[in-house]
Amino acid sequence: MKRVSVASLLLVGTLAAALVPTGAVAAGPAEQAVEAARRRWQGSPHGPMLERILPPTFAPAQLPEPRARGAQLAVEYCVQCHNLPNPAMHHAAKWPGIVERMVVRMRGKGNMGELMREMMGGVRAPDEAERAVLLAYLQRHAQRPLDPRKYPAVRTDAAKSFRLACQQCHTLPDPQRYTAAEWAEVVARMERNMLWMNRVVGTRPVADEPQLRIDEILEFLQSNAKRG
Ligand code: HEC
Ligand code: HEC
Repeated sequence: MKRVSVASLLLVGTLAAALVPTGAVAAGPAEQAVEAARRRWQGSPHGPMLERILPPTFAPAQLPEPRARGAQLAVEYCVQCHNLPNPAMHHAAKWPGIVERMVVRMRGKGNMGELMREMMGGVRAPDEAERAVLLAYLQRHAQRPLDPRKYPAVRTDAAKSFRLACQQCHTLPDPQRYTAAEWAEVVARMERNMLWMNRVVGTRPVADEPQLRIDEILEFLQSNAKRG
């Protein structure tokens, strides 16, 4: 029941976003640039596929250090094919490989190069100096990975759901990042991210397979959370 309502909320949100003319929203230049880019990639024949790469949960206003050059470059380059990436999605060690993969693509080569070329019309690639600034920015605000030596409980059965569900798309996050109350919100957003990206654990019920146990995940994160 819960899944259905979240899914329909997402749908309503998408429809509303598509119907509301951008002029009607008090949007800054960054929002307008992102919106213009979104119309371009959504309108391409690959729109539905590109839509699912990253969820629309993260807006330019949420970028850390929004005035930093790195933040501006992210808004300039990283929204040309999909929704805006959150620097905190990945840990610092992960970003160089991802940025490399994306820059190769922006140059019209690499994995999915052919597909990308079809919508390459207006796609621009950062130069070397811009790429370095962008990468440093993403790494500066990256996810802090969980250190299993600090949280030995992560290896126990009680944390199994957390281990399985929460490293499908990125590294396991350090529980000290948020307070217990904040974790409840973040995990609820992650449930929506999972629906959005269609990678939910437990969509195929298999005997003895662990299902997505949000209560167990919250229990682990909240018992190790930052004090409020
Ligand atoms: C030319 C189109 C294009 C541009 C521009 C682009 N991406 Fe991507 N991005 C893709 C495609 C296609 C995928 C899905 C395939 C994959 O993961 O490589 C993707 C996937 C992603 C993912 C999800 C996959 C993962 O490993 O988590 C992240 C994060 C991401 N891009 C970040 C970025 C960043 C940061 C930038 C700006 C530096 C950027 N993208 C610019 C095409 C692009
Ligand atoms: C389907 C892919 C996916 C799964 C599975 C997933 N996440 Fe995420 N996660 C994302 C994306 C995309 C972002 C960046 C966008 C956002 O913040 O919503 C993110 C960002 C985060 C962040 C950084 C948020 C910030 O701004 O500080 C944390 C912490 C996090 N996830 C925790 C979790 C936890 C805990 C779980 C398990 C319940 C989980 N994630 C499962 C996709 C996923």
